[in-house]
This record gives sequence, structure tokens and C-alpha cells, in this order.
Amino acid sequence: MAFWFNSDRERGRVFAEAFARELPDLNFVMDIERVDSGDIRYLLTWTAPSDLDRFKNLEIVFSIGAGVDQFRLETLPPGVKLVRMVEDGIVRMMQEYVTLAVLALHRNLKVYLGQQSEGRWQALPARQAADCRIGVLGLGMLGQSVIERLMPFGFPLSGWSRSPRQIDGVRCHHGAESLASFLGETDILVCLLPLTEETRGILDPRLFSALPPGASLIHVGRGAQLDHDALIDALDAGHLSGAVIDVTEPEPLPSEHPFWRHPQIMLTPHIASVTQPETAARSVIENIKRHRAGLDPIGLVDRSRGY
Ligand code: NDP
Ligand code: OXD
Repeated sequence: MAFWFNSDRERGRVFAEAFARELPDLNFVMDIERVDSGDIRYLLTWTAPSDLDRFKNLEIVFSIGAGVDQFRLETLPPGVKLVRMVEDGIVRMMQEYVTLAVLALHRNLKVYLGQQSEGRWQALPARQAADCRIGVLGLGMLGQSVIERLMPFGFPLSGWSRSPRQIDGVRCHHGAESLASFLGETDILVCLLPLTEETRGILDPRLFSALPPGASLIHVGRGAQLDHDALIDALDAGHLSGAVIDVTEPEPLPSEHPFWRHPQIMLTPHIASVTQPETAARSVIENIKRHRAGLDPIGLVDRSRGY
């Protein structure tokens, strides 16, 4: 019985140590050529290999990331479970990134960096946190954890999800019909939605026009959720005041793309959060133990929803 680690070797060494300690009966494999395909019960990978069908005894595919849109769900054998990455390291890094981005937008960091490069000493009007409403699209593992981290600053907080949620101190909205009212009370919008057929292209001209004038965007979901031209138009028209963008379609973003040089955009190369091998290994091991005990793994993907 074997576990195939289909990712980089450096992370693999951390996983291998933890597996040897916690699941010594499982053969931990990084070189798939050295093992009979029928032995593989578990696979950890970013995307599904094209010849997945040959692993006849595969039970679980673990995604190395929290997102699973990179898998073509319809091509996974029906009996195989797909599990997304639910681990403390990803959560902590996303909390850091979104806090950094919210504070940078709230305190006009990009404008001051621009002024510094011009040798200009000029204070802008300051806004209190209580007057800056943060709205989070997606109230799952990451959306809820960034809200928790932002709470002590005193920003009014709201969120939007598919099904109803109740979170102390947060105005929760759900469903397509409540999206416009949620947006109307959001000064900094954070996108932490999974990419599905319903959320593809959701950050579009209509959505931007529903935000109050002067609002800004932090996009850490998936590139294909954002209409790039619509964002540039909303910024250039003065309706939006700034954006922090971590994910784009395509990635990497071509060097001639206007996001690189736009004065109101801060751009990072999909680094908001990265799976941390120590905590991720612990989470995958726990899930294998749950599965063996007849329980559903944590982070089991509902194929009908797409996340
Ligand atoms: P979860 O599955 O825990 O949460 C997803 C949330 O989105 C849920 O609240 C869900 O609603 C909501 N949602 C999904 N579809 C819709 C819809 N159609 N309308 C309204 N709400 C919807 O995901 P995570 O929080 O773990 O991760 C979110 C995404 O963050 C990942 O899928 C990935 O794309 C991205 N990500 C980006 C990283 C980066 O470095 N930039 C790193 C890691 C993840 P409900 O609560 O009703 O289910
Ligand atoms: C993820 C990511 O989904 O890194 O974990 O984007």
C-alpha cells in the first residue's frame, strides 16, 4: 500500500519524515516509476496526472493547494475522493497577506510610495478604521480566518457566501440576490472565492459599479474571476481608488500587461499564501487516519458544487 507524493523533493523530505513516524505501514513514494501503479492508494499533487486511470486502487487525491479548480473534476474516477488542503500554514499566511493589503489600502501606502519617488512631502486626509467597511467574498476557511484577524482593528466587517452563515460581529449575506446590497456597503472588497462556473468572471463591470465610489479591491481568489479590462476602466474612471492583485489569468502575467505599471495597482505573483510542508503533512496524515477509521477527510470536495 503506497502514498505517492507528486510535488517538489524539498517539501517531500519533510512529508517523508512525518509519514515514516506516523504511518510506517504506508510506502511513501516520490519516484512513481519504482512502484507498481496498483499499490498507490493515496496521491498528493497540484493537478491530476493524465494517466490517472492506471491507478486502479486509488482512494484519495489530495490537492497540494486549498483551491481545486486546477483539477478537471469530471475526469477524476467517480469513486476517488478529492480533498483540498486545509492546514494552519495556509491560513496564517493568508491572514498576513490580507491584513497587509487592507492596511496598505486603508493608509494610502501606494500613494505615499509614489510621493517618495517624487521627493514630495504631503499628508493626505486620514480615515478612521471605523469608517472603512471591509467586505469579504467567500466565508470559508480563509474568508473567516482573515475576518478574525482584521477584527481588532475596528473595521466594520461583512461577508458573502453561498449558504447562510452566522459570525459574531460580521454582517453576513448570502446568495446572488444579496450581492448588490453587500457590495453597496463595502469600501475594501476582498475576494476569497473558489473558482467555479458560478464565480468565473464575477469581478466584472457590474460588480465594480455596485461598489461605492472610492472603493478598492484585494483579489486573492483565482485569476479567472477578474475581468482585467473592467478593473482598469473602473480605476481610470476614478470609481475605484486602488487594487491589490495576487492572482491573474494567465500566470505569470505577460510583461507588457498594464497591471505591472498601473499607478493604483499593487501586484504580487500568487504568493498570498503557500502550503507549509510541516503543517500540511500533519493535516494529510490526520486525514488518512480519518479515512481508515471510516470518517470523511476534512476538506472533502463536493464535486457537484465544484469546491
Ligand atoms: P472554502 O471552500 O473553505 O470557502 C469557500 C467560500 O466561498 C464559502 O464560504 C462558499 O460559500 C463561498 N462560495 C463558493 N461559491 C460561491 C458562490 N457561487 N456564491 C457565494 N459564495 C460562494 O475555500 P477557502 O476559504 O479554503 O479558499 C478559497 C479560495 O482561496 C481557494 O479556492 C483558492 O482559489 C484561493 N486561494 C488563494 C491562495 C493564494 O495564494 N492567492 C492560496 C489559497 C487559496 P458556502 O460557505 O456557502 O459554502
Ligand atoms: C492554493 C494556492 O490554492 O496556492 O493553495 O493558490
